[in-house]
Amino acid sequence: MGLNTDFKHIYPFFSQEDLSTSFEKAKLMLATLLNKSGKGSEWLGWLDLLEEPNDALLNQIEQHAAQIRNDADVFIIVGIGGSYLGAKAVLDALCSPFGNHKPEIIYAGHHMGDQYHRDLLKYLSEPLPDGRQKSVYLNVISKSGTTLEPALAFRHLRAWMRKTYGDQALERIIATTSEYDGALNKIIEAENYTKYVIPDNVGGRFSVLTPVGLLPIAVAGIDIRSLFYGAVDQLVSIKKDSNQVAEHTALRYAAFKKGYVIDLFSSFDPELGSFGGWIQQLMGESEGKNHKGIFPAVLRYSTDLHSLGQMVQDGQRNMIETFIRIVNCNHQLTVKSEVHDEDGLNYLSGRSVHEINSIALEGTQQAHSDGGVPIIQLSVDHLDANHLGKLILYFEVLTGAYVYCLEENPFDQPGVEAYKQAMFRLLGKP
Ligand code: PA5
Repeated sequence: MGLNTDFKHIYPFFSQEDLSTSFEKAKLMLATLLNKSGKGSEWLGWLDLLEEPNDALLNQIEQHAAQIRNDADVFIIVGIGGSYLGAKAVLDALCSPFGNHKPEIIYAGHHMGDQYHRDLLKYLSEPLPDGRQKSVYLNVISKSGTTLEPALAFRHLRAWMRKTYGDQALERIIATTSEYDGALNKIIEAENYTKYVIPDNVGGRFSVLTPVGLLPIAVAGIDIRSLFYGAVDQLVSIKKDSNQVAEHTALRYAAFKKGYVIDLFSSFDPELGSFGGWIQQLMGESEGKNHKGIFPAVLRYSTDLHSLGQMVQDGQRNMIETFIRIVNCNHQLTVKSEVHDEDGLNYLSGRSVHEINSIALEGTQQAHSDGGVPIIQLSVDHLDANHLGKLILYFEVLTGAYVYCLEENPFDQPGVEAYKQAMFRLLGKP
């Protein structure tokens, strides 16, 4: 066991007729994905690498990450879109948001904020509380090697590294890019940086289980073998019995056909907020084609019940909601009874915060469903690296099969070029 789906709050919104054609199509499209015969099948390297795990590469990444962890105070991930969202999703899910982590993980080149990058350069130059200069490592990640946001950040950070560490900067800069193409490969050759390769047949948003995600995740001290093999196990289990993901695919497709335009990815576990960001890119960039697709939004509950809850409950009835729920929690904080009960919370005494949060989830699902929002629930036994690996693969397969139902290629992103062309024209790029 690991992942479980619950569709009881979505079935009442669809007729038998709505569903039966969607099911047939979803099953067929899932088979098309898994036997690699659909549109864009030359981009299915993310399946190949789980079918034939490269343990030597996992070893190499683990050893390199251990050496970086040992020496670094700060590790900077320079990348945008699929080049950083997967690592951020896993890091934010598994690392405590409090306290000083060694190394501190910082993101750069995921936007072009002038102030942010200036502040970052200043921060890197400031000494640690014990007076030592910070030991900084940097991983620049760009499959194309030409994306403006990370390239711009890397130019500034590279200059800072050279100024600060001289010739030793090259030992502190790791580049992850495609085998041959792109400006980044020219820099790697000229500077002799350590390089990891993003396989040509794996697109950015499907690359978290390649060195793109694995090196930063390992540097943060997370067990990448457990993450990777969680995904391997999930793929094996889907190949054995694909009903669960086929049903999920069919229901999302039925929702699309019925005119639902927003899918709220909601969680009561704040650790999964960035995982929602990864899903948002995975689904949004894969399905938003030829005026089709359901807009993926991310809601962080119960925080967002106090900002967007009104809209979900009572706004336009054009949204479905997908909950990701963590069932078990190891460290439970229990409410204690107080003599005077000034805050009136004694009725909760003996219950854990996790249990109260879970009941809030159930109440919210009930209210939203009664209010006209079809709900899908995906439950995960535990929040750990292995289960995150399972979730990653589940969503990758769901995305591929569902976008095939829309009769689109899930693995390209032609629309992203439009802003780049307009921007480069305005910037006068030769
Ligand atoms: O999923 C994708 O392919 C994109 O989101 C890319 O990851 C993103 O545009 C960054 O591209 P690159 O890694 O080439 O810099």
